[in-house]
Amino acid sequence: MPKLNENYLNLKESYLFAEINHRVKAYSEAHPEKKIIRLGIGDVTLPIGSKMIEQMHEGVDAMASSETFKGYGPEQGYDFLRNAIVDYYARNNVSIEADEVFVSDGAKSDTGNITDLFAQDNVIMIPDPVYPVYVDTNIMNGRNITYIDANAENNFLPMPDHSKHADIIYICSPNNPTGAAYNYEQLKEWVDYALENDAILLYDSAYECFITDESLPRSIFAIEGAKKCAIEFCSLSKTAGFTGTRCGYTIVPKALKFVSSKGIEMSLNAMWNRRQTTKFNGVSYIVQKGAAAAFSVEGMAQCHENIKYYQENAKIIADGLAKKGIRYFGGVNSPYIWFECLNSMDSWDFFDYLLNNAQVVGTPGAGFGKNGQKYFRLTSFGNRENTIEAMHRIDQLF
Ligand code: MLT
Repeated sequence: MPKLNENYLNLKESYLFAEINHRVKAYSEAHPEKKIIRLGIGDVTLPIGSKMIEQMHEGVDAMASSETFKGYGPEQGYDFLRNAIVDYYARNNVSIEADEVFVSDGAKSDTGNITDLFAQDNVIMIPDPVYPVYVDTNIMNGRNITYIDANAENNFLPMPDHSKHADIIYICSPNNPTGAAYNYEQLKEWVDYALENDAILLYDSAYECFITDESLPRSIFAIEGAKKCAIEFCSLSKTAGFTGTRCGYTIVPKALKFVSSKGIEMSLNAMWNRRQTTKFNGVSYIVQKGAAAAFSVEGMAQCHENIKYYQENAKIIADGLAKKGIRYFGGVNSPYIWFECLNSMDSWDFFDYLLNNAQVVGTPGAGFGKNGQKYFRLTSFGNRENTIEAMHRIDQLF
């Protein structure tokens, strides 16, 4: 009999968004006549911009002729895309090198897979609430997690506690689910803490394109010293509407080196390269063509037209909550609005109440951690009509 990974017994029965789908499906089967508005999972609704689509078409055409046909590509991504990402960072005043960029099918996979590089007995520090992938993937590996509280008192931006040690620290900014975003000084404190502790920051910047406040950093590598202590994950899902086509990237600086228990210097860049070349065969050429277009000046301008639309949705949601006197966070540098459940309800009760009485689906804060127990998240990725309708229904209900 195989011995199974019994760490799976320590996980909640289903992944957060699978549980939401399950409840919504049950409701919709029982009430087929009701129109459900889904503002739960952050899935985009606008089509991909024409610059990206043109390039994807070119990619498809390339597959139709033996002169241009592409089989296996480089596991790390084609040079044209890695270079386009380097240029994009340079335009944001951050310098990285092409062989530090690893193209992948998304930040979800990479933030989960990166755990392969670390031994089991690390101290893992994770903010609560947070994107559940960080927690679940470490539980799958049987690691001990220490949580740091993000709450209304610290504006959902926890800062390092210098009396506590950690080896691996997860940070998501702009944050999923709270929408809070760190400034330069705050991130510098995290970088200093990581350097002081010989620790690594796993920095998820999947929502950097939603930053409207120009004074906020878009990359951890905008902070001095970060190349010695951080890995950055990013995604085209929300930036360019690639939730269905799948493309993201991870930046592993070559300066990121640690000494093994036997005194051998180990490079995280070389290890990730080894891991990816062994377990991953790269993103399709067609998708990478579209992704490279997203990083061009014209392509990014098109991405920002869509982002602007979602930001207007965020404002509609925020204004609707403000009108009812409901305290909310986020929605400005982020596509998510995080607010206190009405009537002090627990978040799953609030989820069921909204689904049953307004047919609006959101995400219960408890799914992101214990500090989300009394909070709820709405996404601005719906279409305009549904967003307005959802806020109207909420307005009528309370
Ligand atoms: C979310 O709704 O939190 C995200 O869309 C999930 C994801 O990016 O995997």
